[in-house]
Amino acid sequence: MIDPFRQPSQGRDTALAVENVTVSIGRVAIVRDVSFHAHAGQVLAIIGPSGSGKTTLMKAISGDIAHDGRIFLNGADLRGLGPEPLADMRGVLPQSSQIAFPLTVAEVIGLGVPGHVATRNARAARISDALEKVGLGGFEGRSWPDLSGGEQQRVQLARVLCQVWEPVPEGASPRWLFLDEPVSSLDIKHQYQIMALAADYAARGGGVVAVMHDLNLTAAFADTVLVMKQGRRLAFGAGEEIFRPELLSRAYDFPLRLVPGAAGDRPVIVPSAGASFS
Ligand SMILES: Nc1ncnc2c1ncn2[C@@H]1O[C@H](COP(=O)(O)OP(=O)(O)OP(=O)(O)O)[C@@H](O)[C@H]1O
Ligand SMILES: [Mg+2]
Repeated sequence: MIDPFRQPSQGRDTALAVENVTVSIGRVAIVRDVSFHAHAGQVLAIIGPSGSGKTTLMKAISGDIAHDGRIFLNGADLRGLGPEPLADMRGVLPQSSQIAFPLTVAEVIGLGVPGHVATRNARAARISDALEKVGLGGFEGRSWPDLSGGEQQRVQLARVLCQVWEPVPEGASPRWLFLDEPVSSLDIKHQYQIMALAADYAARGGGVVAVMHDLNLTAAFADTVLVMKQGRRLAFGAGEEIFRPELLSRAYDFPLRLVPGAAGDRPVIVPSAGASFS
């Protein structure tokens, strides 16, 4: 078991270290002085109310938006990483993806396959394998705009997987999946399937950071949880420390309680009886 609270100097070469990060848009600080560590081999979930800065924080750790403070990925300062090393180290699933052209599914996923996968057969094989992994085997020739919302979300995940296929390339640092609401458009079976896929990536040595809204799914799959509120870190810790009704109720300004599960099942988080929905 990896200790999620070890200091950044220990094992920084296999960690995402976020140190006093502030992200400002114009003169407004949208993410304020946030620090946390994620470790390869684990799933870190970022939760918190809508508008609390989760996506903005994900953009910062992905290297897609400027930040104050410091972010290290596998020991390298994000500011010093060029686009190619960064693309090799982490794949990013954005919260929403718009594609203006009528591409096929294989063409969309092909955008993620790195250039070193040189032969047409190798590229096609990786695309097919990725589609199988997200439960869309045989979708290669389908037209992207005609897919359902949940199918498009899984195709985008397949594209990201293709980019960082091996969680730990031989002799190299671990790779990372940065997923912003990866299961928001999916039915319950596919939510579990995709979260299991992310957990498997971590179990094979990669790092996973996922923004989540579903608290019960988060409890089921996250090793460590960062709670955001109004641009700040409200809490950070192992799942069992975070899944306390008082803390979650404070995070969401909404009364929540834990209901014990049947034997062997984990408790579930539900609104408190008498909660006001206004
Ligand atoms: N480019 C921008 N210009 C102005 N305000 C922005 C910009 N990007 C984000 N914001 C604001 O910053 C806050 C945080 O946005 P962010 O997208 O990070 O929230 P979030 O936690 O991901 O929310 P959700 O759960 O709804 O996706 C919001 O109030 C949003 O309106
Ligand atoms: Mg968001």
